Amino acid sequence: MLDPDLKFVFGDSYSDEFFSNGTKYRETLNKEGILIFNSFIGNNGLKALQNEANELKEYSYKSSSEYNVYISEHDHSFTKDSPRNRIMSTSKKCIPNDLIPKKSVLQKIYDSTVVRSFFLDLLNKEELHPYQDPLSSININYYDEGDALGWHFDNSDYTITLLVKNCAEGGVYEFFNDMRYKEGDEDYGFVEKILDEKIKGTKVESLEGDLMIFKGNKSIHRVTAVEKGERILVTFNYNENKGVFLSEQSRKTFFGRIK
Ligand SMILES: [Fe+2]
Repeated sequence: MLDPDLKFVFGDSYSDEFFSNGTKYRETLNKEGILIFNSFIGNNGLKALQNEANELKEYSYKSSSEYNVYISEHDHSFTKDSPRNRIMSTSKKCIPNDLIPKKSVLQKIYDSTVVRSFFLDLLNKEELHPYQDPLSSININYYDEGDALGWHFDNSDYTITLLVKNCAEGGVYEFFNDMRYKEGDEDYGFVEKILDEKIKGTKVESLEGDLMIFKGNKSIHRVTAVEKGERILVTFNYNENKGVFLSEQSRKTFFGRIK
């Protein structure tokens, strides 16, 4: 049974029955590479989350990072401008998990056994665990005007996000579904066409309160620069194995500290 505090937070369609039916959405996620649950958070919950995010923002860490789309070391067997090595950039502000109050709605959603079992069914996983470090399980990300998330593949094979606040212009999520490998090898040719802006991906219209789950490991994706207003996106990060730490490098980059 859902925690009564959470019933107040979720949108009307998200009942105990919904959360017991995660397998129902598995096929769509596999086929489309993305699932959006509109108004996952209802109006009351959204106000609480927006207030909390606004209050925490002054403690956020601002980062600018540069990387290639594979988030891996430069490979000297390719040129600097090759899709393998080309430099992408991201700028944003971030609140790590240890600054989010224990009684926060976000923490309750993350810890809820009902919600967790929904994700287990949906993602067809045996187990999902929080990060072992205190920073990386829930993050609040702020994109102000000019901030953007460059093209990349995620390390984990799925990503769960909640849009808490939408910007007025820009800040659009764009992706190419399940295109990473061609006959088992990295498809650099396809990535090059994307980076050269020769082809356009699928743009997702996401609204405040929407929960989005996508397969970010095989689907290259980005968020275009915010042109007007502010975009606030929460990521719920789980691991299939217990005791996993986010890399020190990533913690330093996005939180400005490792503990
Ligand atoms: Fe990503």
